[in-house]
Amino acid sequence: MTLKLCVIGYPIRQSKSPIIHRYWMQKYKIEGTHEAVEINPDNFEKGIKRLVEEGYRGFNVTVPHKERIIPLCSDIDDTARTIGAVNTVTIEDGKLYGSNTDAYGFIQNLQNSAGDLDKDRKVIVLGAGGAARAVVYALKKDGFTNVVITNRTKTRADALAKEFSIDVCPWDDRELELQNTGLLVNTTSLGMVGEPELEIDLSNLSQDAIVYDIVYKPLMTNLLKNAKNNQNQIVTGIGMLLYQAVPAFEKWTGRSPSIDPTLAELILE
Ligand code: ATR
Repeated sequence: MTLKLCVIGYPIRQSKSPIIHRYWMQKYKIEGTHEAVEINPDNFEKGIKRLVEEGYRGFNVTVPHKERIIPLCSDIDDTARTIGAVNTVTIEDGKLYGSNTDAYGFIQNLQNSAGDLDKDRKVIVLGAGGAARAVVYALKKDGFTNVVITNRTKTRADALAKEFSIDVCPWDDRELELQNTGLLVNTTSLGMVGEPELEIDLSNLSQDAIVYDIVYKPLMTNLLKNAKNNQNQIVTGIGMLLYQAVPAFEKWTGRSPSIDPTLAELILE
């Protein structure tokens, strides 16, 4: 029987999920479809109901639906509950089960690119939005003991810091805070195509620090270019996108997919 899958969002044209999951279905000879389905927030519940009626077995969830889908799920896993967002849904007997694989994607990409890091060295997270929540959760779960968050809107940083028991630094002091930092992560939308650049001078960052930008369009953001010039090891955002798809594909097909260079190239086209 054909496995019907999709990704939902609004807008949805930008999503790379269909490319990833179709690639794996073809590679592992799994008969199925994966398409992008735009669901207008004004008709959200109706849109989800239609997916169930049409026999979908699962879907990825992207902006702006990651929180809104939660009350429609019969159950969500602990990670999704703590992060407060669902990015993967499995449908069984008409019921929705939500999970969140963003934190897994973030940490797998870090480990794969940078290996084992000193968990007691300072990590700075730029941003306090939905992406930052998954990143902070992942870092804490992975055992990082010294995580500092900084965000333009301080109240958002304070709320996230309180929830995850981490420190806050004022946005205007972000360059000073780079001293003694082992890992710098950008979770803001700054540097993304169509968005303003992230302003940060890396002079205070030691050369052995790692710089990770979860933005993948462009792949080489100005932050990463500057980090490279500064001799820092960099981690690009493409890996997070690919790794977050792995547990989703596993849940839907029972098959553990591998990430190969052809897939990464397809995504970046
Ligand atoms: P996401 O779910 O992708 O994280 P979001 O919740 O809209 O998206 O968060 C975007 C992040 O980028 C926030 O940390 C935001 O800062 P604010 O909380 O102050 O809005 C940050 N961001 C976006 N534009 C910014 C800008 N011009 N300067 C500084 N930070 C910016």
